[in-house]
Amino acid sequence: LPHLIDLDDLQVAQWEKLIMLAGEISKKPSDYFGRLSGKIMATLFYEPSTRTQMSFQTAMLRLGGEVIGFDNPQNSSVAKGESLKDTVKIMSGYADILVIRHPYEGSAKAASLYASCPVINAGDGGHLHPTQTLTDLVTLKQEKGRLTNLTIGLCGDLKNGRTVHSLLKAMVKFKGNRFVLISTEELRIPSYIRDILQANGCPFEEVFSLEEAIGELDVLYMTRIQKERFSSEEEYKRQNSIYTLDEKKLERAKLDMKIMHPLPRVDEIADAVDTDPRAIYFKQAAYGIYARMALILMLFDGSLPATAIPKPRTG
Ligand code: CP
Repeated sequence: LPHLIDLDDLQVAQWEKLIMLAGEISKKPSDYFGRLSGKIMATLFYEPSTRTQMSFQTAMLRLGGEVIGFDNPQNSSVAKGESLKDTVKIMSGYADILVIRHPYEGSAKAASLYASCPVINAGDGGHLHPTQTLTDLVTLKQEKGRLTNLTIGLCGDLKNGRTVHSLLKAMVKFKGNRFVLISTEELRIPSYIRDILQANGCPFEEVFSLEEAIGELDVLYMTRIQKERFSSEEEYKRQNSIYTLDEKKLERAKLDMKIMHPLPRVDEIADAVDTDPRAIYFKQAAYGIYARMALILMLFDGSLPATAIPKPRTG
């Protein structure tokens, strides 16, 4: 079964196909409406979400399919003690594709072992978030024009930020990229991600100061401090509000630097930055719909090149 648990489940050539297809869909989404009439997607969200859940639902509805699922497991039989295994077995019998977000690392992989239909990982704890990365790659390609030869700064909670882990794992596959990892000592990138960077010969440095690093960046990827991953409020408060991107810091940045953020934000980007032409995080969230439309189409027919997507139904 074609699942998407990690972007590495796909070949880089397939990512490129998806990125191209998402770009095409973004130009004229209506050309793709109605392609999946009769298909059902189940969204099983054991953790809160706005963008991922709603963009998956929008993508499926735009493609002509239908959506079932829950966004609060306490309103499902999970509240009565039903296991992930049983929920997945049941729901994959009701739907043609499952999208799952869960607080435990490895939960999406486990779900894929029990499911009788494709499973998409919509975030498993602090581990991975492959469809956010697909969204990020589409955004970079569309807004920066390339995925190579970029100096990319990633700032904030690099320890717990699954979007950062997935993005770094993906960007090592593209030539000439260099990474500036901006965090406190406590929220450094996990060692297994450093190992991946080293194994792929990717230059990177770990620094504390956003102010000092910003001037050399082509892309700045800001992240939220992941409150829900801390063991205590005190520990979270020690890390919160250390990094804030504001107009003053932006004065040091290149004029064509792009500011990305997977969102939601708390206070790490000042509202005044939203109107700066370098800020593309709201566009990034919009690309999430097209990235997910492309992915869903591909999972229903794994070998489908963009040019071979069937014409919309008529009548
Ligand atoms: N970027 C992202 O995963 O946002 P949500 O938590 O709102 O889905």
